[in-house]
Amino acid sequence: MDPVQDLIKNLASQHGRNRTNLLPILQGVVEQEKYLSEHSMIEIARELDMPAADVYGTATFYSFLEYQKMGTYIIRVCKTITCSMKGKNQILLTIENMLKIGMGETTPDGKFSLLQTNCLGWCHKAPAMLINNEVYTELTPESVRDILTQYLKK
Ligand code: FES
Repeated sequence: MDPVQDLIKNLASQHGRNRTNLLPILQGVVEQEKYLSEHSMIEIARELDMPAADVYGTATFYSFLEYQKMGTYIIRVCKTITCSMKGKNQILLTIENMLKIGMGETTPDGKFSLLQTNCLGWCHKAPAMLINNEVYTELTPESVRDILTQYLKK
């Protein structure tokens, strides 16, 4: 069987086949495949019995639409209003300086990719970011440096 189809079936069984489970399924696919292909989106739509356009829309909203392979760790910094007001730019700058990459780029060793995303639902603890599926909140430049240092050691 097609490995992508297999993966999506497993994720759907794990999270449920309701469209409210779309986000964890998208995250699961990106985690495993490192990017979300058109093929994956069509398979997800089929599995959840929803229009492919809706899968595409959600994936775009959360910046899960990477057509090239991403780094092992995908950092997604929330760019929505609360996080913006609470110092998102400082967080981005800290990451860019530490990893020496800009927005949308991947480190030459393939370890980290840096992206922005829309609201992650952690506004009450802004600014927030995701590294793969892990959420980090109430970020400061210092805490970001500590977090990245841990990942650099992995
Ligand atoms: Fe950033 Fe909601 S605005 S988590």
